[in-house]
Amino acid sequence: MSKIALITGISGQDGSYLSEHLLEEGFEVHGIIRRHSVAETQNDRMTDHLLQNCHFHYGDMLDEMSILRILKKVKPTHIFNLAAMSHVRISWDMPAFTIKTNAEAVLNLLECYRLEAPEAKFYQASSSEMFGNSVDADGYQRLSTPMTPTSPYGCAKVMAFNLINHYRNAYNLHACNGILFNHESPRRGSNFVTNKVCKTVAQIKRGEVDKLELGNMDSYRDWGHSYDYVRAMKLIIDHKVPNNWVVATGETRSVRDMCEIVFSYVGLDYKDYVVQNEKYMRPEELKYLKGDSVLTRKELGWNPSYSFETMMHEMVDYWLSKK
Ligand code: GDD
Repeated sequence: MSKIALITGISGQDGSYLSEHLLEEGFEVHGIIRRHSVAETQNDRMTDHLLQNCHFHYGDMLDEMSILRILKKVKPTHIFNLAAMSHVRISWDMPAFTIKTNAEAVLNLLECYRLEAPEAKFYQASSSEMFGNSVDADGYQRLSTPMTPTSPYGCAKVMAFNLINHYRNAYNLHACNGILFNHESPRRGSNFVTNKVCKTVAQIKRGEVDKLELGNMDSYRDWGHSYDYVRAMKLIIDHKVPNNWVVATGETRSVRDMCEIVFSYVGLDYKDYVVQNEKYMRPEELKYLKGDSVLTRKELGWNPSYSFETMMHEMVDYWLSKK
């Protein structure tokens, strides 16, 4: 049987890595893209290989009929819902848009899925941001950790997570959640902290800027690589029993530690360049993330190929190579 994937959010970091992976796995790959005022930057993350081999459809998560039409046309066997307003700090600037896109639109997509393609498998991009400041006594977050979100983004993701569970149980659908901890790459937006640091370090090295403005440097994150995490998405959706899974490295580092590693890779001391700017602080901060993915590794055979250092070095090298 032919495998047909429909990816919402195909033009994002994860969408591009996932498309590459699914093409390698023999899928016909379709993606939904929004209209963009600058056509030249619409497909920045899409390599020529992806542009030639994937099928693109204009639509928007907030336009229910566009989603329904695309589902009817594509008839997917696998639906990956990666579309989201993905920036946590910006979710305080546009909370209603965030809830509409990251929660209400998931409900609409689930309704379209239930009515139009109930035989398909469904993957929802759930997030470690859902845990907020809950941490188990042993210092990890896992499936049983209470969800106490600390941002509009996190609140929306919890609602979507619960909708997936409800639709799976109520309508016997093959719908799954991947609870992915932070994942990065050279394709990451440069307003997320890892790529912001890597990009600015390269600019400092070239003498273009002389400081880096950051917000809270004492929060901890469990950072993996998007290349590895999209492989987990495929394993999750294809597991015989639809379920929820945690994808994480099991290591945590502060933003400060990350800066130290990145600056020292190019022979600099971060203390000479980093200054704090209030504007990057958040009304409520998620302080600490470290995920327990033991079950995912054991049951799905998933294992990351990148270490934190190899990932950060790849990102710095990418920005150093850009003139
Ligand atoms: N973006 C940003 N910019 N973050 C900063 C800065 C800055 O200048 N300075 C400090 N930080 C801190 C943030 O306060 C946060 O504690 C940490 O760096 C990571 O911020 P982000 O890289 O923006 O990621 P995030 O953890 O808020 O959210 C990412 O991970 C989630 C999974 O836990 C996003 O990818 C979400 O979409 C994802 O769900």
